[in-house]
Amino acid sequence: VMAAFQAKALAGKRVLITAGPTFEPIDPVRGITNLSSGKMGYAIARAARHAGAQVTLVSGPTALDTPYGVHRINVQTAQQMHDMVISHIAEQDVFIAVAAVADWKVRKQNDQKIKKQGTEDRLSLELEQNPDILASVAALPNRPYCVGFAAESENLVAYGESKRIKKNIPLLVGNIGPQTFGQDHNELVLFDESGHTQLPAADKHYLAQQLVAEIARRI
Ligand code: CTP
Ligand code: CA
Repeated sequence: VMAAFQAKALAGKRVLITAGPTFEPIDPVRGITNLSSGKMGYAIARAARHAGAQVTLVSGPTALDTPYGVHRINVQTAQQMHDMVISHIAEQDVFIAVAAVADWKVRKQNDQKIKKQGTEDRLSLELEQNPDILASVAALPNRPYCVGFAAESENLVAYGESKRIKKNIPLLVGNIGPQTFGQDHNELVLFDESGHTQLPAADKHYLAQQLVAEIARRI
């Protein structure tokens, strides 16, 4: 009965989350994307809302339903995701960057579908770096509490720790990818200034609740 009167862990907090892949067009019918399903980011959005937060979810293309009570904004490209995040960042208490943002975009998009016919049997696309959304937010003078994600295919502990420091953020969540992309289960390792701790492998919804509790404890 007492629990019913207990304040929720993120009551009154505003949380902004990026999720899913981005899609970088090559021409009107093609693009560069990745295998992120968005499941982890959406699970975190749901858990944060459940914990009492006012949640905004800036999402790349996914096949997922919007979690109940979450304000979702759809974007395609990393640049759009960046601009949408920056325009909403001022009022936020927490920023959680879960999206698998494309590091590169096509430098010159073709207005028309690229045709196969021609003299060459090769096609070169020039790529240019996308803005780093998390780094942009972390560099703001009045930044919210910033949480990053990192999917690493190997050396998770070493890469996770150095990525947290390089990105200048208080909390980085590592997972072994890409095996977990699209799966319902995940295995997370939390890196903060006092070291790293592993959350037991579990369903993404359960892990999201654990992570939200860890964030609430730290802010
Ligand atoms: N991220 C971002 N904007 C980008 C690239 C990454 O906001 N343009 C965020 C991701 O959402 C994630 C974190 O940065 O929270 C780490 O992403 P990751 O791809 O692991 O790191 P990178 O710095 O891009 O390094 P690399 O891909 O070379 O390992
Ligand atoms: Ca990257």
